[in-house]
Amino acid sequence: MSETATLELNGKRYVLPVTVGSENEKAVAIGSLRDTTGYITLDDGYGNTGSCQSEITFIDGEQGILRYRGIPIEELADKSTFVEVAYLLIYGHLPNRSELRSFSDLLTENQNLHEDMKYHFEGFSSMAHPMAMLSAMINASSCFYPGLMGPASRDRFNIHAARLLAQVRTIAAFSYRKSRGLPIIYPKRAYKYTANFLHMMFSEPYQDYELKPEVVKALDLIFVLHADHEQNCSTATVRMVASSKANLFACAAAGVCALWGPLHGGANQAVIEMLQDIHDSGDDGSKFINAAKDKDSGRRLMGFGHRVYKNYDPRAKIIKTACDRLLETLQVSDPLLDIAKKLEEAALSDDYFVSRKLYPNVDFYSGIIMRALSIPVEMFTVIFAIGRMPGWIANFKEILDDPKSRIYRPRQVYTGRPLNHYVPLDDRP
Ligand code: SDX
Repeated sequence: MSETATLELNGKRYVLPVTVGSENEKAVAIGSLRDTTGYITLDDGYGNTGSCQSEITFIDGEQGILRYRGIPIEELADKSTFVEVAYLLIYGHLPNRSELRSFSDLLTENQNLHEDMKYHFEGFSSMAHPMAMLSAMINASSCFYPGLMGPASRDRFNIHAARLLAQVRTIAAFSYRKSRGLPIIYPKRAYKYTANFLHMMFSEPYQDYELKPEVVKALDLIFVLHADHEQNCSTATVRMVASSKANLFACAAAGVCALWGPLHGGANQAVIEMLQDIHDSGDDGSKFINAAKDKDSGRRLMGFGHRVYKNYDPRAKIIKTACDRLLETLQVSDPLLDIAKKLEEAALSDDYFVSRKLYPNVDFYSGIIMRALSIPVEMFTVIFAIGRMPGWIANFKEILDDPKSRIYRPRQVYTGRPLNHYVPLDDRP
């Protein structure tokens, strides 16, 4: 017999069904709650509320487990590539050789922007943040594809998804070049996804950027580790917009805006700025740790803590190892890495952090790798957005493919003024 939950309200008992997921996660299904009881639930920040059932990504926050379509992130980080992981997330299985070739070719065919897009780039202030440009240009690019403008359609999904995934990287690189007053560098057909991004970022018209295999691999790993993360703030935003049947590019542009916040994807930039402040102030980290524990300081240990992980973020572990390996290969040292390690060591033995189960998250070390790859700090969250694009596309597709999908429309508890009436201007105090 399937499990149920019983709710007693005003002396009446209500039996609610329990939904059990494939990894035995359990949820009280409250779809009929308001109709049968007149009550709604209230859950600030949705910490206890599931917005959907999804087959894409599984996280066990207590165990520090992350799996894309059931495959552990550690295996994908070790054996896969970003394009292969993108296919896995979007289409639900690892591609065979033919599928991977077709997908990769489709990305190559769709990586160029409409040439008139460059006029949009020219309109941006040289001080524009690349995340502002990324969100705006995703929507701007969609205007060149009338077929996109209608309601989301299944039969055009593959081309729209490939266009978005291929172009987000081109838009990001062009935004960077524009912000530095540099000529834009077009993608090369012969280059693979991540190599092409580095080429468009760092080549010059007169000299191609030297693509070191370990650099390409490190950035590809960053993309893989950021590719999806169940219903995080930006993915939930993409699903919210997708539920209204808006087109894929509009959903992705909204996801970029949600990701930008320093509590979410903007944290990787905030971590480096925090480490740089600590370094410049000559602090060994102890002063900062004390400030981060003091609610009145307005400071937080950025890159630490997570709504779901109450254990070490498995991605942080992988990135920390990759950090050490890359810096050793490139024979560079970064004082900020040393500070980060000291902060981690101090925090993980400090009761404030331990008692609140605050551990390093994906953002704590990712900035160090990106610095080693010469990616400027203002581009860190853009890199996160490129990595997260397959996850957003996969979540968009899950709604598109669901015939029972409904528009997301949360309720609220009103706490404003009771009924009152209009007062003419002359009669107001
Ligand atoms: C990402 O959701 C995802 O999956 C996101 C992500 C993804 O891949 O999409 O994993 C990517 O966004 C990672 C998180 C990046 N953000 C940061 O690193 C910013 C710093 N972290 C925090 O702001 C915070 O931990 C959050 C935002 C990540 C989580 O916030 P919650 O779950 O709302 O936790 P909370 O703010 O309620 O904190 C609980 C307690 C509070 O103290 P008390 O009120 O209990 O005394 O922990 C404290 C907080 O003050 N706390 C911190 C802290 N994080 C939480 N104190 C100091 N430093 C921190 N970093």
